Amino acid sequence: MRQGLPAGAYKGRRALVTGASAGLGAEFARQLAAAGADLVLVARRQEALEAQAAALRASYGVTVACLPADLSDRAAIPPLLAALEALGPVDVLINNAGAGGPTLLGPAPREEQLRYLELMMLSVTQLCQALAPPMAAAGWGRILNVASVAGRIGRAGDGHYGPAKAYVIALSEALHLDLRHRGVHVTALCPGFTHTAFHAEGELAAMKAKLPKFLWYDAHVVVREGLSALERNRAVYLSGRLYRWLDPFLQSVWLRPWLSVPARPQ
Ligand SMILES: NC(=O)c1ccc[n+]([C@@H]2O[C@H](COP(=O)([O-])OP(=O)(O)OC[C@H]3O[C@@H](n4cnc5c(N)ncnc54)[C@H](OP(=O)(O)O)[C@@H]3O)[C@@H](O)[C@H]2O)c1
Repeated sequence: MRQGLPAGAYKGRRALVTGASAGLGAEFARQLAAAGADLVLVARRQEALEAQAAALRASYGVTVACLPADLSDRAAIPPLLAALEALGPVDVLINNAGAGGPTLLGPAPREEQLRYLELMMLSVTQLCQALAPPMAAAGWGRILNVASVAGRIGRAGDGHYGPAKAYVIALSEALHLDLRHRGVHVTALCPGFTHTAFHAEGELAAMKAKLPKFLWYDAHVVVREGLSALERNRAVYLSGRLYRWLDPFLQSVWLRPWLSVPARPQ
């Protein structure tokens, strides 16, 4: 099993984690703080962020700033970037915020669908675009974009989540190539099913109840593997041995038509 970041490995670095109020983002923040990084936490729920920040300061003695923002709101990005600039350089960017959302052919209004795509793709793109050049100029940086195994396979009845994650993977691969000789590591982390708040309600909770336990990983394992892959500068990394084993089959041009997940009968 991969080791986590050594204590002090990121001492003196500042790390920005989006979606840090829960789930994988909260765990990224914890493991980065344990490695000595000062933190900037972003998500919508200010109270949850502040509680997380207080716990991290007390446990690890790092500085933590909270910047509440709704990343599905295009107008929220420029003030967020301005607030980041005022705080100083960001050395580590973890683009993690995300959610289940409306489907392409579903009943959700167009405006809701566009906001979802802002969160899942454009906010990730804009943070990379703003923060990668200063990292490259400094000769050191780390960018981890949380994608998903769902971005590696077609699924009927999806239409937004999987394609958005496929975009995040492609974006990360391109950035990885652009920056690999400039001291900036870029990794798309593709988790499979992970125990977080993601499947806490509604249809996703019902789906979780039906799925076998061996498909599920704990957030601390996914994050530890992701940060290790980032340090090794892997362009795309699937967390979980099961998913790494399945992936070549999922990617096979011969097998893909049979492996793609069909729509449930309505
Ligand atoms: N859990 C899984 O099985 C799984 C598998 C593959 C990939 N992933 C990916 O992993 C990432 C983290 O998900 P998770 O499982 O940790 O889910 P989670 O426990 O529900 O956490 C999601 C985080 O994203 C934040 N967020 C959601 N919408 C936001 C918005 N509009 N603006 C700003 N922040 C927002 C939430 O904070 P607020 O509510 O406070 O805004 C929360 O901190 C996502 O990108 C997800 O797609 C998860």
